[in-house]
Amino acid sequence: MLDSIASIRDLDLDGQRVFIRVDFNVPLDADGRITDDTRIRAALPTIEHALSHGGRVILASHLGRPKGKRDPRLSLEPTGERLAALLPGGEVILTEHCVGDAPRKLAADLRDGQVLLLENLRFEPGEKANDVDFARQLAALCDVYVNDAFGVSHRAHASVSALPRLIAARGAGFLVESEVAALEHLRGQPARPYVAILGGAKVSDKLGVIDALLPRVDELLIGGAMANTFLAAQGIEVGRSLVESDKLALARTVMHKADAAGVKLLIPVDLRVGDALGATRADVVAADAVAPGAMALDIGPDTAARYRERILRAKSVFWNGPMGLFENPAFAAGTFAVAGAVADCPGFCVVGGGDSVAAIAQANLVDRFDHVSTGGGASLEYLEGHAMPGLEALRT
Ligand code: 3PG
Repeated sequence: MLDSIASIRDLDLDGQRVFIRVDFNVPLDADGRITDDTRIRAALPTIEHALSHGGRVILASHLGRPKGKRDPRLSLEPTGERLAALLPGGEVILTEHCVGDAPRKLAADLRDGQVLLLENLRFEPGEKANDVDFARQLAALCDVYVNDAFGVSHRAHASVSALPRLIAARGAGFLVESEVAALEHLRGQPARPYVAILGGAKVSDKLGVIDALLPRVDELLIGGAMANTFLAAQGIEVGRSLVESDKLALARTVMHKADAAGVKLLIPVDLRVGDALGATRADVVAADAVAPGAMALDIGPDTAARYRERILRAKSVFWNGPMGLFENPAFAAGTFAVAGAVADCPGFCVVGGGDSVAAIAQANLVDRFDHVSTGGGASLEYLEGHAMPGLEALRT
């Protein structure tokens, strides 16, 4: 997949202005504080490599979806501060705009060891529009282009797609390389049994990846609110639980397809329910005994134990999406149980998706997996076999 794509290792960085597209789209709390800096830490090896090889580093990222307008709540300022704290002796200068005279001057005046962080690319409409003029303005800032933003490489946006095509010296950073290597392994001939665990709110978001996984996996374990849709599709009453009622037929089709492919599709046999999303008490009930006023907010302990057994037997595992509303401690047990099982599995285990990654970070398990993908949508699209604009644009 990385054929004809240069690695940052092969690029001459000495004395060059090196533009590194990073994915600093980190989760923020209501006060704008970073709640998980995994994505910033994940870019450090590439940034440090560029600095130690004489590069003058210009970092660029999006944050949130500001729709082409400035939104002070989505400034990269807190990200720059966090990065400065993580870079040994690092000095991070944040620009007010990502293009224009000021960043051009700052980029030209950069000294060795200094890092320039451009303000949120998505404050400019040209970013999402993959606008070539906007890309040209970014190109004017640098000599070398490195994509280390795997999480946004499935988007045909200017800093990921139009820009690299304008710069001859371009390549992939270490994060992109490790993401591609891990996911490519799962797309090839992973050791069997291969178990995929899918959670999250909507089955409709996962249809593409389910189709791609069915010919490859042996078992598909379902959790999260999307499990409610599978239960409802079998005529089981799920009370006030979140259900995609217009996707019941689709869920039945998925079950038939799994059957035809010889894949065991497991859905919860018990659930943790509450009376509201903010409920502080969780009651465990059988999956077919959800009261009319109750909401299923997590898988139950029997389901977690069954899933654990399957996960421990697996030789390859892919997990995307939490098993429940883990942000609420009353409904975190199922997600943490699955996280623990995947961590304990001796096979090749890959975890992807912002929520699952946040859950394993909360459970202090990050180092216990073969690969933790920083890309949610990107890792799913990669597994689905879609061309990734951010990788295609790097080919020479
Ligand atoms: C992500 O969070 O998955 C990436 O940063 C991409 O963000 P986007 O879905 O807003 O394009």
